[in-house]
Amino acid sequence: MRDADGRGLVGVGLRSAHFPRLLGCPRTPVRWFEALSENYMDSEGRPLEVLLKIREDYPVALHGVSLSVGGVEGPRPGYLARLKRLAERAEPFLITDHLCFTGAHASNLHDLLPLPYTEEAVRVVAANVGRAQDALGRTIALENVSSYLTYPESEMAEWEFLTAVARRAGCKILLDVNNIYVSAKNHDFSAEIYIDAVPAKLVAQIHLGGYSDMGTFLFDTHSRAPTQPVWDLYRRAIRRLSGAPVLIEWDEDVPPWETLEAQAVKAAALREEALAQPA
Ligand SMILES: [Fe+2]
Repeated sequence: MRDADGRGLVGVGLRSAHFPRLLGCPRTPVRWFEALSENYMDSEGRPLEVLLKIREDYPVALHGVSLSVGGVEGPRPGYLARLKRLAERAEPFLITDHLCFTGAHASNLHDLLPLPYTEEAVRVVAANVGRAQDALGRTIALENVSSYLTYPESEMAEWEFLTAVARRAGCKILLDVNNIYVSAKNHDFSAEIYIDAVPAKLVAQIHLGGYSDMGTFLFDTHSRAPTQPVWDLYRRAIRRLSGAPVLIEWDEDVPPWETLEAQAVKAAALREEALAQPA
């Protein structure tokens, strides 16, 4: 299993609350795990030990929040070196981060802020991704973030920006279906058009998560199971993106293992069902 690339398989996020269950009984229908890079980069203790143990039996992807490819200053060399060191040990089938900026002038805003969708931003992000990929010695994938603001300067739709960055940078896309739904509702665009427009060959992974309805907007809390509209979009997406590994993302109010596992089983069943339907 160590060299598997997760193609078409459904995984879940690796959370410390589930360490005892996974170490005590590693058998599960979950087929791969995503580890949050920053939780393991500076750790020589138990979290890294558990990750490497899991890696003996399952493919693993590394998912970060601090690469900051959207910042003018770009990725920090120290961060890239630590990430590369972690990747050498965990041997992930994919390294991912977000298409956003998280800070400027050495301060981290601790938020994943969207970029203006401009040609200038495509150029800046592509150059930053190029530096990251050179330092890591591999292709990475960037995830579309949920957003709560837009810029009047934007010259293109979000999906056009995402595609332009991936093509210019020579990187892949992590398509978060929940984030598409949240942003589509918040900014009144068609999630279906977005899903259909992203080139299938660029998509290296799919995320599914849950949002909270705040009344006047949707908030990407990752604190619950995907909702029915997100499952419906997933069914639409998976027919075009059948080779992409799928992840159930649940970061806050992490549920018991069985609840998370059941969501992965559901995602795998819906995938089979959608692929069995005639075109
Ligand atoms: Fe995500």
